[in-house]
Amino acid sequence: MTTRTASQGILSDANNETREHIVELLTKAYWMEIETVISYIANSINPDGVRAREIVESLESDIQEELGHARQYATRIKELYGVVPGTLDFQAEQSYLQPPAHQTDVVHVVKGVIEAETGAIEHYNVIVQETDGIDPVTQDMVIAILRDEEGHRRLFEGYLREYEAEGKA
Ligand SMILES: [Fe+2]
Ligand SMILES: [Fe+2]
Repeated sequence: MTTRTASQGILSDANNETREHIVELLTKAYWMEIETVISYIANSINPDGVRAREIVESLESDIQEELGHARQYATRIKELYGVVPGTLDFQAEQSYLQPPAHQTDVVHVVKGVIEAETGAIEHYNVIVQETDGIDPVTQDMVIAILRDEEGHRRLFEGYLREYEAEGKA
């Protein structure tokens, strides 16, 4: 007996093109998470000084969350008949999360994190819109991840406000 493909939903033959488009969006999201993990490792270790402690601890816990996001994106790519790419396809984009000139420059790190989280929020909103009514499983997953990113952004916005109130940003 031959197996048949699903007649309904994102795995159906009728949705081949849409599915490939969603896999492309998920692949971009996967790389964003991977790059964020790399950047957050560096920025959780480089900073010096008393002021850096809270930032360092926040980034340490975020690394695990972002890694979890990357794994979820990779899993969904496979479920949609895609292939998780190899590292040679990776292109770095986070110019704003490069190490600052001085490792006590915590404001630079905070602003870089806000930029990274904002980029993720924007791209994940696109995925939520483009999967609407088409792929509720991907949409549901991305909505949950989007909430994490909004939480990260809000936390770092709070740090920035404190520095601004003290005249240091
Ligand atoms: Fe993430
Ligand atoms: Fe995040």
